[in-house]
Amino acid sequence: MSEPLILGIESSCDETGVGIVRGHELLANEVASSVEEHVRFGGVVPEVASRAHLQAMVPTLRRACEKADVDLAEVDAIAVTAGPGLMGALVVGLSAAKALALALNKPLYGLNHLVGHVAVDLLDHGPLPQRCAALLVSGGHTSLLQVGDITSDITELGATIDDAAGEAYDKVARLLGLAYPGGPVIDRVAANGDPAAISFPRGLTAAKDLVRHRFDYSFSGLKTAVSRWVETRQRDGEPVPVADVAASFQEAVCDVLTAKAIDACEYLGADTLLIGGGVAANSRLRALLEERTAARGITLRRPRPGLCTDNGAMIAVLGAEVVKAGIAPSALTIGADSGMNVARVVA
Ligand code: KG4
Ligand code: ZN
Repeated sequence: MSEPLILGIESSCDETGVGIVRGHELLANEVASSVEEHVRFGGVVPEVASRAHLQAMVPTLRRACEKADVDLAEVDAIAVTAGPGLMGALVVGLSAAKALALALNKPLYGLNHLVGHVAVDLLDHGPLPQRCAALLVSGGHTSLLQVGDITSDITELGATIDDAAGEAYDKVARLLGLAYPGGPVIDRVAANGDPAAISFPRGLTAAKDLVRHRFDYSFSGLKTAVSRWVETRQRDGEPVPVADVAASFQEAVCDVLTAKAIDACEYLGADTLLIGGGVAANSRLRALLEERTAARGITLRRPRPGLCTDNGAMIAVLGAEVVKAGIAPSALTIGADSGMNVARVVA
């Protein structure tokens, strides 16, 4: 059988994404972001995001078809994010996908957004080994996964017990007076700072925490530590060295993300570590992972930064894998699942 031609729709947060793939070949990946509409609120406003998805869906779909030079009648299946994400935002993508599946008489696959963040690397680096560890770092989630078959065998080893890594970036950026979303801004500002200037805490790395939380993360204590440090400087009438704070905060996040990901590889006996999600675009995280995986002979798989943030191609390529595995399509009656568990690949 030739590789399946899949249309993928993503709308779980503030990006309306439509991607088209043939197997592992990327044909189109159009994204319309509503991020500008959320900037003044310092975070995504769900209702605003839903409306923006509604307005962007059809034009983004058209652009993707033009870019890929594909007629909708040609696609083999429609894949869509079923969860996790913002309920109102998910419903827009899911409704669009259902309408297309019904009108075109194509199978519908409601898929897990988090698994899509892992699957997207297939577009850049081909099939996965039999088993690997995956570090998923986004604005809403931070977890360490054991990945066997990407369509059916995903186990969560650990996850954040409070804030997600991206959320910590966004909150720290806000308290430093930097723009939203904070991740890319801190990444840039930190390049001019000293990562060793301030020693911020590494959450859940003390020996007593490792007993119960070996593969879990915690970033809320770090966020509080940064906030206290900045407040103390301001109270004392001292200037806040923003670049040093940003670099030291970033070092604390990346140090602990990396250390636990390497530990997971060793625990699993996995020789491959894959990273995904918006924070996987971070330059320091990528560099530190490269350094530490190389030192241990672990192969690091990093999708290009443009595929790390939310997009439709990640859903399309996961759809292609699911179709190739012969998994039954979802019912047209499926609902959005805002808290969809990572172990559930297809709704
Ligand atoms: O995966 P994603 O696009 O959406 C979710 O599923 O959450 O991730 C968005 C998050 C935001 O918190 C953003 O600040 C962060 O990814 N992010 C970054 C970078 N680019 C995006 N964090 C650190 N460094 C970056 N370069
Ligand atoms: Zn995401």
